[in-house]
Amino acid sequence: MNSQDYMDREHHYGAHNYHPLPVVLERGEGIFVWDVDGKRYYDFLSAYSAVNQGHCHPKIIAAMTEQAQKLTLTSRAFYNNVLGEYEEYITKTFGYDKVLPMNSGAEADETALKLARRWGYDVKGIPDGQAKIVVAAENFHGRTITIISMSTDPDSYKGFGPYTPGFVTIPYNNVAALEEALKDKNVAAFLVEPIQGEAGVFVPDEGYLKKCYDLCKANNVLFIADEVQTGIARTGKMLAVDHEGIKPDVLILGKALSGGIYPISAVLADDEIMLVIKPGEHGSTFGGNPMAAKIAIAALEVVKNEKLAENAENMGKIFREGIKNIKSEMIELVRGKGLLNAVVIKPKNGKEAWDVCMQMKENGLIAKPTHGHIIRFAPPLTITEEHVKNAVAIIEKSIKEIEAMA
Ligand SMILES: Cc1ncc(COP(=O)(O)O)c(C=O)c1O
Repeated sequence: MNSQDYMDREHHYGAHNYHPLPVVLERGEGIFVWDVDGKRYYDFLSAYSAVNQGHCHPKIIAAMTEQAQKLTLTSRAFYNNVLGEYEEYITKTFGYDKVLPMNSGAEADETALKLARRWGYDVKGIPDGQAKIVVAAENFHGRTITIISMSTDPDSYKGFGPYTPGFVTIPYNNVAALEEALKDKNVAAFLVEPIQGEAGVFVPDEGYLKKCYDLCKANNVLFIADEVQTGIARTGKMLAVDHEGIKPDVLILGKALSGGIYPISAVLADDEIMLVIKPGEHGSTFGGNPMAAKIAIAALEVVKNEKLAENAENMGKIFREGIKNIKSEMIELVRGKGLLNAVVIKPKNGKEAWDVCMQMKENGLIAKPTHGHIIRFAPPLTITEEHVKNAVAIIEKSIKEIEAMA
């Protein structure tokens, strides 16, 4: 079979809910992936920031294979001998009393919403059925019906109603709007991405998160950080909220919590919040399974041992500097933090971000446009300076080639 055959087969038998770049990947190692023809690419998407530790990290793969040969799934109907080890490890790593393990990011977000509502009723004293959760416009928290009910992106929500009530949307990066919204005593929580990744890597003003956190504290409202994309060293700190020195009441993690091996997500909170959910009120067949527990410990150890947060911070600066030095009318701006960056592309004679991505693919680097004109660049955090420079050279060459065609 050649590349086209693989793509045709997916197109024929699979739902058309994605529009992939036409490249068929077969193998990955570190920052590189190879297609079925053996061509090598720099991976500048990292599976939407799930592969922060690099593809097939040997330590994470070893942890997985070792556990896979002993015990993979028990369900939470029984105890197992590794879940507690993981729970202790992750809660101590992030400084919380408790963790609630789930699988996908969306499930962890749903869990946080349930926690917030229940806390609102049981602890804050909001009248039953009246709890509200404040969310930011242009958010992305996943794809479930409740989560798309918070979305302002028609591609996410249009045609999937009726929607879950109880959300109040305010503009992102607007402290005054939050202050106004929190006047409503029925608000249980404010849910926010420290950087809006899917929206196109929108970095809020410095101090925004801290001010929002302080407002939440002053109004007895939970501050919930969705760090599914920004967490696990992506932005140059273990958590993006660490840049502002705040500890969210509820922390949502996913993606790179597994090093991209397996769907693993987690919600962290202290007892006063986490213990409002009682046995039988929430759960997941796979959440907290022994394989996930071992994988997540290994994934976090790799991040710490290999100092991936520091590397993300340093390599991110070199990357943005490199992009800023490219002389091209098609580059409107580059923004980001650590190794979560985006380049805004100005279309020229019908050539746009998609064409740039196609050309980069030809030249050995894969990335994907988000929202049409924005290309997100988020390589594994194990990338070296030499490779960042090579990648910037490929991006420059590709943009210049596209400009010449425009
Ligand atoms: C901030 C954020 N939250 C939640 C999700 C959903 O995660 P998943 O696709 O694992 O459900 C994403 C995915 O991109 C995300 O970026």
